[in-house]
Amino acid sequence: MTVEMRKNYLLLVDGFLAVTTKIKETYSFSEDTDGFLPFGSEYAHVSDNPDLCERFCYWHTHSNKRQDHPFSQSPYLRAAAAYESEITGLAQQIINGICREFGAPPLASIRDSSYLQLCVYGQNPSPSERQFAQDPHEDGHLLTFIRPNRDGLVILRGSALEPVRLLENELAVLSGSLLTQLSDCAIPATYHAVLVPSQPIQRSSLVYFVNPSSSDAFIGFRRKKPLDLLATMNAHHTGFGNRPIAVTSKPA
Ligand SMILES: [Fe+2]
Repeated sequence: MTVEMRKNYLLLVDGFLAVTTKIKETYSFSEDTDGFLPFGSEYAHVSDNPDLCERFCYWHTHSNKRQDHPFSQSPYLRAAAAYESEITGLAQQIINGICREFGAPPLASIRDSSYLQLCVYGQNPSPSERQFAQDPHEDGHLLTFIRPNRDGLVILRGSALEPVRLLENELAVLSGSLLTQLSDCAIPATYHAVLVPSQPIQRSSLVYFVNPSSSDAFIGFRRKKPLDLLATMNAHHTGFGNRPIAVTSKPA
């Protein structure tokens, strides 16, 4: 993370507590999985075992149509926009670097299909009631960039749970199953989970989900066959309890 990213990250994580319930209710656009989304509205596995978090989502592609909302001019939204503008460049570089490794052409801009999500875990049961605040899963995107503010994120390696520990300026980058599909199974998806902490403590995680452009066409890296990555993208997105991502134009 750059110094600027770190600054905006802290504004988003620390500033969440100061956002009033009224703002959370009015700046909420569940049809776009955007803005403030209530506790328990997303799940990793089954809908009656929801992720124990509130969410704030920010999409570059929806930002223009929110301009009339007073909260759009707030420092909080400016921090989200600034963080998104840096991380989307980083994500595009990494995804195109992966394409290059496989001798494939670069992908079209991922920005309009990708989004930022702050997960704020507050109401934790005791670990004896539930082991995971977020059940084991993979995210179903191309890549996920994760920056938590506390321990709890674990990667599944067989039956073992491996804690993810990061330096202050580091992000975890996880592969998702859209990348597995695009790479014709050369890149496996990274299964992960969030443990319930032993003590009741608030935990936040800022995530950037990288999806393919809805105007791109996709060819598998190894078999060189066309892939319907957009159908899979939406199957995954709705599988977490979200509404579909709009596919704005057909692949050429
Ligand atoms: Fe995840």
